[in-house]
Amino acid sequence: MEETERILFLRRELHRHNHNYYVLNAPEISDREFDAMLAELAELEARHPEMADPNSPTQRVGSDINHEFTQRAHVYPMLSLGNTYNRDDVRAFYERVADGLGGEPFDVCCELKFDGLGISLVYEDGRLLYAVTRGDGVRGDDVTENVKTIRSIPLSLVPGSGYPRRFEIRGEILMPWVSFEQLNVDRAAREEPLFANPRNAASGTLKSKNSAVVAARRLDAYLYYLLGDATPTDSHYDNMRLAASWGFKVSDAMQRAHSLDEIYAFIDHWDVERKMLPVATDGIVLKVDSLRQQERLGYTAKSPRWAIAYKFQAERACTRLRSVTFQVGRTGAVTPVANMDPVQLAGTVVRRASLHNEDIIRQLDLHLGDRVYVEKAGEIIPQIVGVDVDARREEPVGEPVRFIDTCPECGARLVRYEGEAAHYCPNDAACPPQLKGRIEHFISRDAMNIDSLGPETVDAYFSAGLIHDAADLYQIKTSDIAGEDGTRERSAAKIVEGIRRSLDVPFDRVLYALGIRFVGKVVARQLARHFKRLDALRAASLDELLQVDGVGAVIAQSVRSFFANPANADLVARLAAAGVQMQLPEEEQLSDSLAGKSIVISGTFARHSREEYKALIEKHGGRNVGSISGKTSFVLAGENMGPSKMEKAAKLGVPLVSETEFLAMIGE
Ligand code: IVH
Repeated sequence: MEETERILFLRRELHRHNHNYYVLNAPEISDREFDAMLAELAELEARHPEMADPNSPTQRVGSDINHEFTQRAHVYPMLSLGNTYNRDDVRAFYERVADGLGGEPFDVCCELKFDGLGISLVYEDGRLLYAVTRGDGVRGDDVTENVKTIRSIPLSLVPGSGYPRRFEIRGEILMPWVSFEQLNVDRAAREEPLFANPRNAASGTLKSKNSAVVAARRLDAYLYYLLGDATPTDSHYDNMRLAASWGFKVSDAMQRAHSLDEIYAFIDHWDVERKMLPVATDGIVLKVDSLRQQERLGYTAKSPRWAIAYKFQAERACTRLRSVTFQVGRTGAVTPVANMDPVQLAGTVVRRASLHNEDIIRQLDLHLGDRVYVEKAGEIIPQIVGVDVDARREEPVGEPVRFIDTCPECGARLVRYEGEAAHYCPNDAACPPQLKGRIEHFISRDAMNIDSLGPETVDAYFSAGLIHDAADLYQIKTSDIAGEDGTRERSAAKIVEGIRRSLDVPFDRVLYALGIRFVGKVVARQLARHFKRLDALRAASLDELLQVDGVGAVIAQSVRSFFANPANADLVARLAAAGVQMQLPEEEQLSDSLAGKSIVISGTFARHSREEYKALIEKHGGRNVGSISGKTSFVLAGENMGPSKMEKAAKLGVPLVSETEFLAMIGE
C-alpha cells in the first residue's frame, strides 16, 4: 500500500475505533493497538504535509496556541425551554399540546435533561465544519478547535450511513463525574477555587483558550436535536436513532411515550436511575415527536410550545448548625467551615459544609444553633443554602456567626484584598499551616516528588523544630531522624536518600514546587522554557513576563511579588546552594541568526510541526512569544492564519514571514 493510501486507511480505521470506544463503549482493539495506529498515522502525516487534514484523528490532542474566539451567528436561534417542577405542570403541558393539535393523536419523546452546556455542531459532507456555543441564542463563540478534542464528537461520520449533505445537530457538552472529581482534587491541591459542579467545570474548560487543556480534561457530549431542511423522517425519535447510526452519541434513555402515564413512569424511573449515570442530569425534557406537529404548535418568543423541561428536586436536608471553624491553607486563605448535627443527604452522612467566605455568611444571616438547609452542589460538596428563620421563634438561637479578624493559627490580623471575597492571613513568614503547607506542596508528587516523606512526617519534623522551610530538608542527616538509639536507621536513610534524589528534578518542576501563587504545573513549564534560568526569571520585568504564553497580569504580578520578598530570595538561594536545579539543561545552539527577535507563530505548517518551529526559533537564538504586540519582530505565518491575528499584525506593522522564507533565514 502506498503511504498516502495508508494514511487514508488509518484515518478511516481510527475514526471507526474511536466511535466504537467513545460512543458505543464497545472497543474492538486494545488501547495499545489504537495508540500504535495513531502514532503511525502521525508519522506518515509528518512525511506527507500535502495530505494535511484538520479533521484527522491526530488533531484531537489540542494545541497550546491561544485561540481568540470569533463569534458566529446561529442559522436557527438557540432557544431555551420552559421549566416545570411538578406533575400538574406536566399535565398542563400535555393538555396544551392536545388542544393545540385539535385532538389529533400525538407521541411525546421523553429524554434526560443533561446538565452541561449547549453546543451546536454543523456538518458538511460527513465532516465537522464548526462548533458554536449557545452564546446569547442568536450568536455564540466558535469553539471548533476545543470541541475537536472531545472524543465522543465525530470529526468524520460513518461512511455510507446516509447522513444529509449538510445539517446541524445540537447537544450538551458535559464533564463526567470522574473527571470533575479528579479536577477538583487537583485544584484543591493547588489551592485553586473548586468548581461547584460539572456544568461550571465543563463551561470553564470549553472556553479555555488552550485546547490542550480541553483535551486533558476529558469532556463528553450527548446529542439530542437535529435541525436542517434535510431531516430524514418526521419523527424526532427516529431521526436521533439515525443520527446515532451516523456516529453520534445519543442517549439510550430516550423513549417515545403514548400517554401521560407513560411520561410519569419515565420521570419516576429516571429520578432514581439518573444517580447511576456517569454524567450530571437535572431533569427530563419532553418533546412532541412529530416534526410536522412541532411546526403546527410553533414557538413563543423564548421557547418552543412543543417542548418542556421537568426539573428534578435537588436533594436537601435540614439540620442544626453547631459551630463555625476557620481553616488556614497554604496560601493563607481562610475558609469558614460549618459544623452541623450529622444528617443523611443523597446517600452520605453530612457533618460539615463549606461556607466559602464572609459574604455568604452575611447573606444567610447565619446564627449559631440555626436550623439550616443543606444541599449538595452538583451533588458533591455540601452547602448551606438557607436558614429556617421561623424555627428561631420556637427554639431561640445563639449569636450571629461573625467572620474572624485574626488568624486562628498565629493571631495575625487578617486582610481582604480588593475584589476578592476571601480573607487571608498575611503572616506567610511564620504562620504554621502556611509554612507546613508550603513544605507539603514542595514534596508532592508533581513537584519534587519526595515520596519518602508525607504530611505526617513533615508535621512531626516541623513541630520538633527540625525544619522551617523546604530548604531545611536538604540539611537533614540520618542521625537527626534515626531516633536516640538509632533504631530507625534504615527508614531514616531511605528518607535522606529520597530527599537527595530530588536534586535531579528538572527546573520546571522546581519552579512549580516553590508554590508561587497562581503558578501551576503548566505555567511553571512555560516560564521555565521561556526564561531557562531562575536568575532570568527573577530579573524579568512585568512586560517580559506577559510575553510568556498563558501568563496574564495576575500571574505576572504574583511572580514579581514572590521574588520581591527577601524571605523567598533567601529560600531560593539556600535551595540552589543545596544543589536543587535552577536552570534547564543547556540546549545545543545552532546559530544566532534570530538573536534578539521576538517571533509569533500562527497557522498550520507543512514542513515542521508548531512545536518543532518553537524549538528551531530558540536554537537559532530567537524567542517565541504568544501574542502579537508592537515589540514582535515578525509573525511566522503558516496556512489558515486567523483573521484577527492578521488584522492585528497589519495594524501594528508587524511583518509576516512565510514558512519557506523562515527556513531560508535559518539556513535550512
Ligand atoms: S432540546 C428547542 N433536549 O437544556 C429545544 N435540551 O433550557 C432545545 N438540554 O439549552 C433544546 N438536555 O442546553 C434539549 N435532551 C435535551 C436536553 C436539553 C439538556 C439543555 C439545552 C437547552 C436547555 C434548555
